Amino acid sequence: MRQVSAVIALAGFTLTVYLGSIVGGFRVKDLSSFQDNIERHPGMAWRAPSSDSLPNNAKGESIRRGLLIFNETPLYATRYTGAKLSCSSCHAEGGMQPFASPVVGVPTLFPMYNERAGHVISLKDRIQECFVRSENGQPLDYNGEAMRNLVDYINWLSTPQPNHQPFRGRGLVNLPDLKPDPVRGRAIYATQCAGCHGESGQGRAPMFPPLYGKDSFNDGAGMNGVRKMAAFVQHNMPQNRKGILSPQDAFDVSAYIHEQPRPSFNSAYKKF
Ligand code: HEC
Ligand code: HEC
Repeated sequence: MRQVSAVIALAGFTLTVYLGSIVGGFRVKDLSSFQDNIERHPGMAWRAPSSDSLPNNAKGESIRRGLLIFNETPLYATRYTGAKLSCSSCHAEGGMQPFASPVVGVPTLFPMYNERAGHVISLKDRIQECFVRSENGQPLDYNGEAMRNLVDYINWLSTPQPNHQPFRGRGLVNLPDLKPDPVRGRAIYATQCAGCHGESGQGRAPMFPPLYGKDSFNDGAGMNGVRKMAAFVQHNMPQNRKGILSPQDAFDVSAYIHEQPRPSFNSAYKKF
C-alpha cells in the first residue's frame, strides 16, 4: 500500500505543480504540496527549508521558477533541453533525496576542480554540464534568467538549518568494483524496470523518465558510466521497491542499459 500511496503522492505533487504553474503562469504561490512531500520523510534529520521562508519578492519568485525548471525541465527550459528528462529525474525529489546526487549544500563546494573539464569550474559551469550532457541540450545563457532561477533554487535548498542539522547523503553510494553481466541484466530489466521505464527504455514522460533511446541523456553524461548508473540504481531503484537490488544486480542491469542506443554528445560543447 505504501508503494501505491507513494506513486499517488508523487503523481499528485507533479500534477499540482503542473496545474498550478499553468493557472498561475510562473507565479506559483502555493507550495504546500511541495512541503507535504517533504513532511512525509520525518526520519530525515535535515529538513527542507519551509516554503514560508520564501521571500515575497523577486528573489522568492526566482526560487519558485527554479523549482519548476528543476522538476519540469523540458516544459520550463524547453529551448535548452533535448531529452525528456528533468533535473529531478536523476536528482530525485527536487534535488533533496540523499544518495541521488542531491544538490543540497553543493554551492559551498564550488569553485571545484573538475576532472572531465580538466580545470576549476563554478556551480554555473556544473549546471551547464548537466544541460549539454544529461539533458542532451544546450548551455544556458550564463547571466540569463533560467540560470539565475536554478542557482537561486539550489542556494535556497542549501540555506543553513535552524537546528544546524547537516544534510547527509551527498553524491551516490559507494559500490565495490564488480564485473557486470549484461545478459543477466536484461532479465532484471524486463522484470524490475520495464514496467515504469518501458519495454524499449522510452519511459512515460513526465512521470517515468526514459533510460535509453532518442529521448534519453547522451553518451557524454555521467549516468552513461556503468559504475555511476549502478550506484544510482542500487540505492534509488526500482523507485517503488528501493533496496531490492544487490550491487551485482545493479551493475548487471546498468551494463545492459549501457549497451542500448542513445544520442551522442555534441562535441561543440566539450568545454563543459
Ligand atoms: C541523467 C541524469 C541527470 C540529469 C537529467 C541531470 N543531472 Fe545533474 N548530475 C548527474 C550526475 C550523475 C551527477 C554527478 C554526481 C556524482 O558524480 O556524484 C550530476 C551532478 C550535478 C551537480 C553537482 C552535484 C555535486 O554533488 O557535485 C549539479 C549542481 C547538477 N548535477 C545540476 C543539475 C541540474 C540543474 C540539472 C537539470 C538542468 C541536472 N543536473 C540534470 C545526473 C543528472
Ligand atoms: C515504479 C516505477 C519505477 C521502476 C519500477 C523503476 N524506476 Fe527508475 N525511475 C523512476 C522514476 C519516477 C525516476 C525519477 C527519479 C525519482 O523520482 O525517483 C526514475 C529514474 C531512474 C534513472 C535516472 C533517470 C533516467 O531516466 O536515466 C535511472 C537510471 C533509473 N531510474 C533506472 C531504473 C532501473 C535500472 C530500474 C530497474 C531495476 C528502475 N529504474 C525501475 C521510476 C521507476
